[in-house]
Amino acid sequence: MTIQNHTLGSNNGEQFPDLELGTYEAVLTALDVGYRHFDCACIGEAFAMTTVPRNKYYVTSKLWNNCYRPEDVGPALEATLAELKRNYLDLYLMHAGTQFWPQAFKSGNEEFPMDAQGRVISEDVSFVDTWKAMEKLILDNCKTVPAVNQVELHLYLLREKLLQFSKKHNNIITAYSPLGGPRSPGVTDEPLIREIAKRLHKSPAQVLLSWGVRRGTVVVPKSANPARIKANLELFELSKEDFEAINELSRKKIRYCFPEKLWSGVAACFEDD
Ligand SMILES: NC(=O)c1ccc[n+]([C@@H]2O[C@H](COP(=O)([O-])OP(=O)(O)OC[C@H]3O[C@@H](n4cnc5c(N)ncnc54)[C@H](OP(=O)(O)O)[C@@H]3O)[C@@H](O)[C@H]2O)c1
Repeated sequence: MTIQNHTLGSNNGEQFPDLELGTYEAVLTALDVGYRHFDCACIGEAFAMTTVPRNKYYVTSKLWNNCYRPEDVGPALEATLAELKRNYLDLYLMHAGTQFWPQAFKSGNEEFPMDAQGRVISEDVSFVDTWKAMEKLILDNCKTVPAVNQVELHLYLLREKLLQFSKKHNNIITAYSPLGGPRSPGVTDEPLIREIAKRLHKSPAQVLLSWGVRRGTVVVPKSANPARIKANLELFELSKEDFEAINELSRKKIRYCFPEKLWSGVAACFEDD
């Protein structure tokens, strides 16, 4: 499967490349080897230098939680465009990682405004009002059905119900931390994944990413290593047998990206779906 040419359709008629790169440093390498979908921040220089035409790649960015006040939304987008040295984005998401989010942080320049006890300082802003301000960026009055939902999703966090719900509404799920994240979760060490990888002469990461794409998700692996960035692009069609065997692997329900633990004050529990 040539991932550069492989896309998922969404409810707004857009086709989304189903392999996305989440990284800061590696965009140029990625453009060179063929990535065409970026989840990004602080990478304007790389975009400014590439000769790949702008309409040949896809850029996603996010509204950070300290800009949830409706009046902060437009300026935040402008700041992002200036930082990226681009004049438009293809997709703009509200940043929200867990079931306790979307959560407005204190408005201002601090990314994580903390109180003396080390708890994040929140503000009483309804995400519905933030969303309306996001919609206004496109049209003064529109009722936009969200096209993409980005959530943590990997072998240990299948989110089957959410995935089925999203497919029913043509809403694309982007799987972040598709390799289990940077803290060595062990998904690439699963014996079955290793066995399939060895048999097919692929890497465990390629098996997991191919499985994610076959499940109908966009996958957004992150790597700072040029060889792995390139290899992660070379996905393939898993057989039905291998696909189903991976689906049957133990469902551990582990979430790796868990901001509540860092910010304290909020219970560290979750349901898969
Ligand atoms: N919306 C959100 O709240 C949110 C939260 C977290 C992440 N994200 C998005 O998801 C992206 C990826 O998430 P992530 O970094 O948490 O997880 P990930 O892509 O699952 O894992 C990244 C880790 O896997 C390693 N890796 C990459 N390719 C590999 C390969 N072929 N073989 C072995 N190891 C490999 C990387 O190391 P090397 O660099 O050494 O290759 C890195 O340590 C982020 O960049 C971001 O765009 C979104």
